[in-house]
Amino acid sequence: MTGLAPGQVTVDVRLVPDDLNAALRRDARAGLSATPKAMPPVWFYDDRGCELYEGITRAPEYYPFRTEQALLRASAGEIAEAAGATVLVELGSGNSEKTRLLLDAMATAGAGLVGYVPFDVAEATLRAAARSVADDMGIGVHAVVGDFHEHLDAVPEVDGPRLVAFLGSTIGNFVPGQRARFLAEVGDMLDPGDRFLLATDLVKPVERLVAAYDDAAGVTAAFNLNLLAVLNRELGADFDLDRFEHLAVWDPRNQWVEMRLRATERTTVKVPEIDLVVDFAAGEQMRTEISAKFTGDAVRRELAQAGMAVAGSWTDPAGDYLLTLARPA
Ligand code: AVJ
Repeated sequence: MTGLAPGQVTVDVRLVPDDLNAALRRDARAGLSATPKAMPPVWFYDDRGCELYEGITRAPEYYPFRTEQALLRASAGEIAEAAGATVLVELGSGNSEKTRLLLDAMATAGAGLVGYVPFDVAEATLRAAARSVADDMGIGVHAVVGDFHEHLDAVPEVDGPRLVAFLGSTIGNFVPGQRARFLAEVGDMLDPGDRFLLATDLVKPVERLVAAYDDAAGVTAAFNLNLLAVLNRELGADFDLDRFEHLAVWDPRNQWVEMRLRATERTTVKVPEIDLVVDFAAGEQMRTEISAKFTGDAVRRELAQAGMAVAGSWTDPAGDYLLTLARPA
């Protein structure tokens, strides 16, 4: 791949900690002043949030993580053959265990594996992952520290065909406008031989959906409340976590699970770093995450709107989760 020898790592930094802090201020200023209040889910993931998310993936009710992992384990070989790519571009490359399944499958597929382009906001994690893949697999790694809503142009052109993977059903966290824009950018980015692998969680009975976002052990509740601890630490806010409770609600019109924090009593919160004082009425709810669920048809339609056509798809035996391979239309 471009300028990369086997085993070599380069890192393109498009996003520094100051940019992230500025983005958090922007999101908090907008989200806490809005009616209804809302915060984007990216801010869950400080160290504690990442630890809690790992806890969620082990909760019996939370099927998406282990279902995706099993599906990849079963299908990575077929996916790699169908994709015919020599370079894996992974958007939001947090989940390294799943990455390895794809990389290993590509390495043994007909086309062979030449390079890996992990793309993520978390620089330290990214550097460590880049180094270990380069060492273990002897391939070139070009890591991009960036936000996939802003810096997709940083994904390098390479010699061979690319497989661009977006796993984890992270696309479910995007609001519809963001989702359409993101998919259109991915569609534009693909050369004729490139492929896009998209992971989506599928619509299923509401009890299972809600339970997955409201586990009995309360890990998801702690994860949701951790957002307030992040705002306290990063923006000097004085949220009293005891005055908020976790809610998970299925929105049938939008086909998404919504996580909310509900103020149990009237409360006033100061957010000094952005000169904001926020009032919560008793019972007021703030949206902290949407997690959209799809059907195969909806995925096909949204890909088509973004200039892509379905080239293959894989589901688990229970039909809970979908991996879709797309090509430029
Ligand atoms: C990380 C996007 C897969 O939406 O299911 C888990 C995060 N939020 N429980 C999801 C999450 C609450 C999650 N993803």
